[in-house]
Amino acid sequence: MNDHSLDSPGEAPVRLRRWLAPRLLDWFRLHQRDLPWRWDRDPYRIWVSEVMLQQTQVATVTAYFERFLARFPTLADLAHADEQEVLRLWEGLGYYRRARHLLQAARLLHARHGGTFPADPEALRDVPGLGDYTRNAVLSQAFDLRLPILEANSIRVLSRLFARTEDPRTTTARRWLWQAAEALLPTREVGDFNQALMELGALVCTPEKPNCPTCPLRSRCQAHASGQPEAFPRRTPPTPPTEVREAGVVIRRGEQVLLVQRPAEADRWASMWEFPHGQLHEGESHEQAAVRLAGERTGLTIRLGGELQTIRHGVTRFRITLVCFEAEYESGEFVAGYYHRAVWIAPEELQAYPVSSPQRRLARSLAQTNRQRRLF
Ligand code: ADE
Repeated sequence: MNDHSLDSPGEAPVRLRRWLAPRLLDWFRLHQRDLPWRWDRDPYRIWVSEVMLQQTQVATVTAYFERFLARFPTLADLAHADEQEVLRLWEGLGYYRRARHLLQAARLLHARHGGTFPADPEALRDVPGLGDYTRNAVLSQAFDLRLPILEANSIRVLSRLFARTEDPRTTTARRWLWQAAEALLPTREVGDFNQALMELGALVCTPEKPNCPTCPLRSRCQAHASGQPEAFPRRTPPTPPTEVREAGVVIRRGEQVLLVQRPAEADRWASMWEFPHGQLHEGESHEQAAVRLAGERTGLTIRLGGELQTIRHGVTRFRITLVCFEAEYESGEFVAGYYHRAVWIAPEELQAYPVSSPQRRLARSLAQTNRQRRLF
């Protein structure tokens, strides 16, 4: 076996491991971004950052991270937090299940370990939201435990280093990559090594136009040697999004509007607030759907007014078009069913409630319309 093949990654040639780590670590010391979760080795801060960084870019996360840590500086602070406030701070980051799991996990760890984050993978096995990646990322960065990580950036770096052609989403490719990530770990500075793999993927070994001339691993990179580094790993084209047509209503009663809370078990935006909305039935107009949905989901009878705003929003593999109407309350009492709770509030009070991004856009335009109405 030559120095840089890794057919059986569990037996990574020691020489490759010894070659790789110092180069990657030297590069990391010089080129790493100055990110707030790198300022110390507090496992709680690192954990919050790693959860926020799942599915989300570093540039987006930074401001959220600082706001979140200013409000909940320790695990104990988070364990005592109110879920609605956590969701409000998370608003705009998306994938809100992460925030709810983070809170549940903080409560569990606080109850079991008195506010300290255990430096033991076994103690984290059944903790909500702490999968292999997050657990290993936190424990390696905070305590230097010798645990590998694998996420989109490091998958690309490893696939290129070894010119792996298979789709990294397959189980066999995954298994191979985890073993490779483990076999290449140094014995010290494990957290920095893991971060360096990700950082190299983010800054140099990018999906398009990788900057190979500046890469510290170039001389042993098999994808670079092939002359076509972008070809690794294989990328399957994304499936086209599914179009979803929705109607929604902002129901007014005097100076107030009706806001309703989604169920805690909802697939998305669980426990967050919104104006009543839902999907159109086959053959239904937006107006018909708005009246039907108001009745079905709130129990209220309304008089439909004009169209307020159309909001287009992409979420996971769905492309949602929501046509929103104004409506006047006519009769009835709110009946909990699909929605758990309802509040009548002044549009200015919307600020305090966690809502999804499309609903926040609607709330903003509503607040604006309200101001204009008062002006004229
Ligand atoms: N992506 C997720 N965690 C990261 C980290 N610690 N450094 C760079 N990129 C990351």
